[in-house]
Amino acid sequence: MENGPNKYRMAAQGTRIELYNGTLKVFTQVPAAIELCKYFRESYLEKHSILKSPEATHSNTPESVRVEACEDFEKDPRVQGLWKKIINSAGVHSPLSYACWDRVRLRIQQSDGGYDNVSNELNSTGRFSSTLPLHRDTWASNVMQQLNWWTPLLPIDKDRTLAIYPNFFEKPVPNTSQQWSMKELKNHRKKNAPYPQLPMFDVNCNVVGLEPMQKEDKDAFFQELNEDAQPILISPGDVIVFSGAHLHGSVVNKTGKTRFSTELRTVDALDVTEERHARNIDGHSPGVQYKWFESIGELGEDEGIDKGVRLDRLVEKIKTT
Ligand SMILES: [Fe+2]
Repeated sequence: MENGPNKYRMAAQGTRIELYNGTLKVFTQVPAAIELCKYFRESYLEKHSILKSPEATHSNTPESVRVEACEDFEKDPRVQGLWKKIINSAGVHSPLSYACWDRVRLRIQQSDGGYDNVSNELNSTGRFSSTLPLHRDTWASNVMQQLNWWTPLLPIDKDRTLAIYPNFFEKPVPNTSQQWSMKELKNHRKKNAPYPQLPMFDVNCNVVGLEPMQKEDKDAFFQELNEDAQPILISPGDVIVFSGAHLHGSVVNKTGKTRFSTELRTVDALDVTEERHARNIDGHSPGVQYKWFESIGELGEDEGIDKGVRLDRLVEKIKTT
């Protein structure tokens, strides 16, 4: 029987494999997540007082205010530190040395904004998007080890949250991953021109390996999709973790209240080198974006892994040692 650090390593690996197979994991009332919510309520909203009332309708908060708040949150060392504690306590990446992340995000999803669109001032299409259509994160990243971490900072409800479509984990859906490009997104952002934030579900899209859908097939497809939607109803302090290969999207918020949530993505470098991952059933992105992730570091210093090492370089390092 395994014991010591290896026991935790094997348990973490087992948890990640479950996640790669489509399991949704909810960690309830995580102390660091509770502390993050408290910090958000008592300190952060005080500082960004225009966002202050948790029950207010924020359908007219200017984008500049939301961008400033998101930037502040993302760079806040205390927020980052609490997120590291959340990841560490979940035991999904043990040791944390090989865990990489992209960046902490704050989502401020106003009511009545609809899906992100540059022509709609209620939402944002820069780095701080708020209402995303159906997608798999892996359509963009092509990193099949990607795990998504999501937690509400204030109470949510079924009409202002995230929805996951569990049955579609195994079912290919038409999407624009073949054509979409991060480079093009950046070019369009500079010009303030419309471009999808990410590869999207597109029922009219011709996809490699999928026949174009007939009308009756489309009707059945949308019915199945609607029946499968699972709004995530967890409390502040709870954290959900799921494979980036899951089909998911923002529930369009029409509640008259803002949704405040925070999220990030992780990738375990050992799973990249040892080829453990979710199955790619319908992604056709031409590249694999390891460079979007970097080592969380700190707890990995004993193993010679510094903070901020890009995932592609970390993978090379592991392979050569
Ligand atoms: Fe996503």
